[in-house]
Amino acid sequence: MPQPNSVKCLVVDDEPRLRRVLVRLLEGEGFTCSEAGSGVEALEMLHHEQVPLVISDLRMPQMDGVGLLREIIAKWPDTAVIVVTAVAEVESAVACLQLGALDYVAKPFHLDEVRARVMQALDKRRLKLELEDYRHNLERRVQEQARRIEELSLERLQALVHFLEEKDPYTRGHSVRVANYSTRIAREMGLPQSVVEVITLGAELHDIGKIGVSEQVLHKAGKLSEPEYRHIMEHPVIGARILAPLMRDVPAALAIVRSHHERLDGRGFPDGLASDQIPLEVRVVTIADSFDAMTSVRPYRPALSVQKALQELEEGKDTQFHAPAVEAFLAAFPDATALPVSTPEIQPLHLPALSPDTTRASSPSD
Ligand SMILES: [Fe+2]
Repeated sequence: MPQPNSVKCLVVDDEPRLRRVLVRLLEGEGFTCSEAGSGVEALEMLHHEQVPLVISDLRMPQMDGVGLLREIIAKWPDTAVIVVTAVAEVESAVACLQLGALDYVAKPFHLDEVRARVMQALDKRRLKLELEDYRHNLERRVQEQARRIEELSLERLQALVHFLEEKDPYTRGHSVRVANYSTRIAREMGLPQSVVEVITLGAELHDIGKIGVSEQVLHKAGKLSEPEYRHIMEHPVIGARILAPLMRDVPAALAIVRSHHERLDGRGFPDGLASDQIPLEVRVVTIADSFDAMTSVRPYRPALSVQKALQELEEGKDTQFHAPAVEAFLAAFPDATALPVSTPEIQPLHLPALSPDTTRASSPSD
């Protein structure tokens, strides 16, 4: 039998004499009791202070015990309710059990019986709470494990991207630099941390679809033919397809992978999205990606000077690039002599915590 110590209990009965009997009994067992003369009064008291145990008569004026029980179950489902009934009301008592009361006592009651029922009800309540707690923890742990497995898969893909880039001196360090530029632009724009994290994630994996592009084409020294260019430009779609199962909860990061070659004027790849159709997260990464590509040597051209690349960004405002993100880039890197940045160290990828503002692509007004 549990020691209730100072467990709080509310006794509800319109007959003060019966209330007193119950209160005396319970206080004798160490409970701290409060009393209400009606269902309405009981609800008012519960609104001010919740209690683990309510013992309520069934027949009362205004709101009867059944009405009170319904309200308690709806509002405070963790409260244990015992109803007190007349022998003739056993059917009502059974209905109360079906509604969620933990037990009932029939009048005239024996004090030992009430004592035993109260202890049983508190035991049931404790077990129910422990079970809920266990379920909740289990669900959380399963979710954490599932997320960790997804992160491990992402880390493998990240390693693959870097391996692919390392093989090619022209693209070495590209993704990690793009992630670095993108993160700093996003911070400069004052975007929430959750959005910054999505941008970092999407930026680092943006070119993952190049896994599906022929290496011969990818590393071709010289200008690409039209079909070769079209083949290379399939990489955003391939990348989105690879990552879709792992990024169900981060559609904005997936949008970065699919749409990082879109342009504001609608002349980009692969969907020809224009202006507002391109999520803000994508617009940020597009600038970082373009700047890093321009300032890197390519098989078919030397690297552009930083000055020239910055000029390209300026000139591409509102046709290719989102002007506020270009401004943020310039503000984040005010010293052009410090550009291009050196390649940062690779950090393990993390999926951002789930929340409404990380699980959708932002509209441009965000
Ligand atoms: Fe790309």
